Formats: sequence, C-alpha cells, structure tokens
Amino acid sequence: MRHAAFIALTSLALLADLASASERPAREIVEARCQNCHGMTGQSSSPNYPKLAGQNAQYLQRQLFNFKSGRRENGEMKAQVADLSGAEIEALAEYFSSKDVIADVAFDPALAEIGKQLYENGNAQSGVTACSTCHGPRARGALFLPRLAGQHASYIERQVQAFIDHTREAPDMVMHSVVTGLTEAEIIAVAQYLSGLE
Ligand code: HEC
Ligand code: HEC
Repeated sequence: MRHAAFIALTSLALLADLASASERPAREIVEARCQNCHGMTGQSSSPNYPKLAGQNAQYLQRQLFNFKSGRRENGEMKAQVADLSGAEIEALAEYFSSKDVIADVAFDPALAEIGKQLYENGNAQSGVTACSTCHGPRARGALFLPRLAGQHASYIERQVQAFIDHTREAPDMVMHSVVTGLTEAEIIAVAQYLSGLE
C-alpha cells in the first residue's frame, strides 16, 4: 500500500515536471534571454555570436543539449541552457530554424572565390575533403549537419580552429579529421565565401 502511494506520488511529481516543462513559449525565452546576444530573429549583428536564423532544427537542438551536458564547452551558453527543459529546447530550435537568415557581404570577393574552390573541391594535395560532401552544394546542411551559408566569417574561423585544437569536440569526430590539413589562409578564404552565401 505504502509502495503504491509512493509510486502515485512520484508519477504526480513527474507529471508536474512535464507540465512546467512546456510552460514557457519559445518567444518568451528568446525575448528574455537569447535576443541579448543572438537577436530576436537569430540574425545576430555581432560576429561574436553565431546567427541561428535558418539553422537546421535538429542541429540546434543537439548543440543546446551539448552545452547543457558540457560536451560542448562555453561558459556563456552553459548558463543560458542550464534550466531549460527538453520541450523548451525543442521549441527554441524550431523557432530559430523557421527564421530567414540574411548573408553578410564578402569584403574580399577574390578571396571568397578561392574559398568556393576549396569548399566544392577540397584540396587533393593536403587531403582535405570537399566541405560540400557533408554541408551540401549550397552549404545548407541537413539534420545534424549545420548550415554554414550566411554565417559570420569570424565565427566560422573560430569554430574550425576549435575543431583543430580540440577545444570543441564533436561526437562523431568527422570535423576533426576534415580540418587537420587546412592552412590558416584556406580557413579565412572558405569563411569569407560562406558568410556571403545566401
Ligand atoms: C550572453 C550571450 C548569449 C546569450 C544570452 C545566448 N547565447 Fe547562444 N551563444 C553565445 C555564444 C558566445 C555562442 C558561441 C559559443 C562557441 O563559440 O562555442 C553561442 C552559441 C549558440 C548556439 C550554437 C550555434 C551553432 O551554430 O553551433 C546555439 C544553438 C545557441 N547559442 C542558442 C542560444 C539560445 C537558444 C539562447 C537563449 C536561451 C542563447 N543562445 C542565448 C552567446 C549567447
Ligand atoms: C564528413 C562530413 C563533413 C565534412 C567533409 C565537413 N564537415 Fe563541417 N561539420 C560536420 C558535422 C557533422 C558538424 C557538426 C559537428 C557537431 O555536431 O558539433 C560540422 C560542423 C562544422 C562547423 C561548425 C558550424 C557551427 O554552426 O558551429 C563548421 C564551421 C564547419 N563544419 C566547417 C566545415 C568546413 C569549412 C569544411 C570543409 C573544409 C567542412 N566543415 C567539412 C561534418 C563535415
């Protein structure tokens, strides 16, 4: 009897948890927090913060869980996601994914052209795989593969560097093997190309 009561109580607690989990709509959380750095529509104006607009929902969701678990380390983001429920994370990912992203203007079109070649063909000499193999011909990505088109150039550079240094770990490790052969000039060129891509 006591056992049954205990089970009933824990299920009630679980139900209460689930109810509070869907309490805050995504828009409310964005207004209160995310917009301070990423902008209301995920079109962050500062290159310190990645654009989230138009990013694939599954990818966004996975990154938010990675920040929460500490698998992807970032002090600023860890604090933002600590109290978010699974349902709220899902809703936030859907929210930003549904917004349109506006690309930046490439400051150096000649450099962007070199970046395009690398993006589409890789570098046979240094063994760098074409980025398009995974991120797609127009850099839109899919599912857990991030969209790169229109992203801030300096953010792309920082993330590639973080994969090289292993300060950003990715569960499937594919990015680590891809980026090892990249030169600094190639990273700048490919970031320049991608940031200007609609
Ligand atoms: C205080 C500033 C700040 C706030 C507020 C903030 N973020 Fe971030 N966010 C960052 C920074 C900085 C990064 C880049 C982290 C890195 O370099 O790994 C980031 C990265 C991300 C990423 C990964 C994007 C990618 O392309 O991999 C997602 C998703 C994200 N934030 C979602 C959110 C959501 C949702 C909120 C609101 C709950 C939020 N952020 C609030 C600073 C912030
Ligand atoms: C074999 C598949 C594959 C190839 C080839 C590949 N990538 Fe990736 N890339 C991924 C995956 C998977 C992720 C997501 C990792 C994670 O979940 O953290 C990623 C993530 C990234 C990110 C982080 C995006 C963000 O929003 O934080 C950047 C930048 C990136 N790749 C650039 C490149 C560039 C540049 C190339 C070509 C030189 C390239 N990738 C080639 C699979 C690939």
